[in-house]
Amino acid sequence: MIKTIYILNGPNLNLLGTREPEIYGAATLTDIEDACAEKCKAAGYGLSFHQSNIEGEIVDQIQRAGKDGVAVLINAAAYTHTSVAIYDGLKTLSIPVIEVHISQPASRESFRQQSFIAPVATGSISGFGTNSYLLAIDAAIDSLK
Ligand code: DQA
Repeated sequence: MIKTIYILNGPNLNLLGTREPEIYGAATLTDIEDACAEKCKAAGYGLSFHQSNIEGEIVDQIQRAGKDGVAVLINAAAYTHTSVAIYDGLKTLSIPVIEVHISQPASRESFRQQSFIAPVATGSISGFGTNSYLLAIDAAIDSLK
C-alpha cells in the first residue's frame, strides 16, 4: 500500500495568491498542492492535502493522519499561536510532524513568537516562501529513513 504524507493547512491559507502577497507570495494553495503532489509522487509517496478555517476540522485531520499517514506537515497558520487543541492532537501522534510556515514568524509581530506546534513537532521549516512546503517534504521523507 502507498505511504501517505498528510499536509494540513489552517485558516486563511485558502486565500493565498491574494492574501498579503508581499508576505506570502503569489502562489495559490492549489499551486502549492500541485507542487507537493508532484514531489511526493516522484519520491514514491501519496499525498493527502487539506485546508480548513475550522480548528476542530484540523484536529479531525490530525487524527486521520495518525491512522492512515506516515508523516504530517502542518501549517496551522494563526492557530499556530493559539491552539491547545492542535497541540494536544499532534501530541498523540507517533509519526514525524513537521511545522511549516511560508513566512518567518520569529521576525514578525510579538504575538507570532509563540508556537503551540513547535514543542510537538519533529522540526520546523519557516521563511522560505512556498518552498517551505517542499523542503518540509524532504525533511519528512528523510526522517522516515
Ligand atoms: C503563517 C504564519 C502565521 O503567523 C500566520 O498566522 C499565517 C501564515 C505562514 O505560513 O507564514 O496565517 O503560518
